[in-house]
Amino acid sequence: MSAAKRKKLLAGNWKMNMRLAEIEPFFTAFAAGLDAASRQQVDVLFAAPFTQIQATLAACRARGFAVAAQNVHFEASGAFTGEVSAVMLTDLGVRSTLIGHSERRQYFAETDESVAKKTVTAIKNAMTPVVCVGELLEERKSGSTFEVVGHQVEAVLTAVKNQGPLKDREAFYPGDLTDGLVIAYEPVWAIGTGLSATTEQAQEVHAFIRKVAGEILGNDFAGKLRILYGGSANPGNIAGLLAQPDIDGGLVGGASLKPGDFAAMCITPSA
Ligand code: 13P
Repeated sequence: MSAAKRKKLLAGNWKMNMRLAEIEPFFTAFAAGLDAASRQQVDVLFAAPFTQIQATLAACRARGFAVAAQNVHFEASGAFTGEVSAVMLTDLGVRSTLIGHSERRQYFAETDESVAKKTVTAIKNAMTPVVCVGELLEERKSGSTFEVVGHQVEAVLTAVKNQGPLKDREAFYPGDLTDGLVIAYEPVWAIGTGLSATTEQAQEVHAFIRKVAGEILGNDFAGKLRILYGGSANPGNIAGLLAQPDIDGGLVGGASLKPGDFAAMCITPSA
């Protein structure tokens, strides 16, 4: 499938932000900032904190936006205090989740192994995992970006491969979300720093991720795989990023909390 067939996906990661009372006003402003053409041409997803998911779903359902969790546990139930399972999320109607965000890897001991287990669990539960990968500043400086990112991608996609083909999955989520898996490349040094990767830096890692995905799951899968960029994406730099052949959308932190900014970012790809 050519790049043109990959529908852009703009995902907001609210992280540990957004009070309940802020949600409806956010969506009123956000929807007002979008035009009809963008709504058709771009998939929009919001990753909300667990306790805000129901209110976010209520606001998103009527407006045609999708909702994700920010994490999921790999078991369906059991003695895992403080965790939430995929079946609990799907009970609510949530069909997507971030997995392995760098903040979870950094502060909550998430590993390639747990990321792989969570990803397989999400897929088995007909959820779309948005799997986050990316190198630390030291790793970029020491020239090991491709090794680090390659290893992260390989760990998760090999686990997926060992579970059987993704194409056996039913289609379930807006538009053409491919075979229920999205990868987000988020260089850790670019997250929340205002220091975005350049379009060239991002494109070369995205192309590399697609190559690795092709080696593991085949070129048909890799050609359809949506790879998002995250890290200080904003209304000023998103168009350049999305113009790259292997950048299929954005995973947006800070700017996704500002309805006008995020709406502007969702309009850009269709311009
Ligand atoms: P910022 O857009 O705030 O840099 O955050 C990126 C991110 O971590 C999205 O998951």
